[in-house]
Amino acid sequence: MAGTAKLAALVLLIFSLGMAMPLVHSNLEDPKEVDKWLQKFQYAKEKVSRLHFYFHDTPSGKNPSAVRVAQAPITEKSPTLFGLVNIFDDPLTEGPEPTSRLVGRAQGLYGSAGQQEVGLLVAMNLVFTTGRLNASSITILGRNAALQPHREMPIIGGTGVFRLARGFAIAKTHSLNFTSAIVEYNVVAMHY
Ligand SMILES: *[C@@H]1O[C@H](CO)[C@@H](O)[C@H](O)[C@H]1NC(C)=O
Ligand SMILES: *[C@@H]1O[C@H](CO)[C@@H](O)[C@H](O)[C@H]1NC(C)=O
Repeated sequence: MAGTAKLAALVLLIFSLGMAMPLVHSNLEDPKEVDKWLQKFQYAKEKVSRLHFYFHDTPSGKNPSAVRVAQAPITEKSPTLFGLVNIFDDPLTEGPEPTSRLVGRAQGLYGSAGQQEVGLLVAMNLVFTTGRLNASSITILGRNAALQPHREMPIIGGTGVFRLARGFAIAKTHSLNFTSAIVEYNVVAMHY
């Protein structure tokens, strides 16, 4: 019996390793792919891509897409919720309606880092899931004064199509209610 259990555990282990393999050994980690990319890079010109989509953040309600993971003793008394940290996995869509076509996800965190004015520290990855951008990502790190009409945040890097990306994102609130915020994003990314 013990032997059978051990075998079953081993089979399970091999099976789970097998499942994990494709992720670990994606072609992106193939040294040949890196060589090819480097060769092309010598002659590559920097390109500019413009992206437009809507970001849906739902911090409350039945199916929140953002969850509170930390707060300070003074957060609840602070007019800016100073010290609050949320982790989010928010859908990105083509149009402003929540039912509009999904083009990717924004995954990351925002922390309330302003005491006088709402000023979020945002660290997030925009992961795209359609067409030639599928699985490529853009990383944003910046300040989002969420109550201002326009907020600009820097792109600090990217992967896939967006390798070595730099640029900026302009966020503009499209609509806001007690459960969710829909934010329009205009992104300019320079990449190779
Ligand atoms: C995106 O890539 C994943 C694998 O990385 C694949 O399963 C999926 O079908 C692709 N989707 C599109 C729209 O190409
Ligand atoms: C808030 O807006 C979202 C997106 O438009 C909508 O789905 C939701 O029903 C609204 N909630 C309330 C309480 O109005």
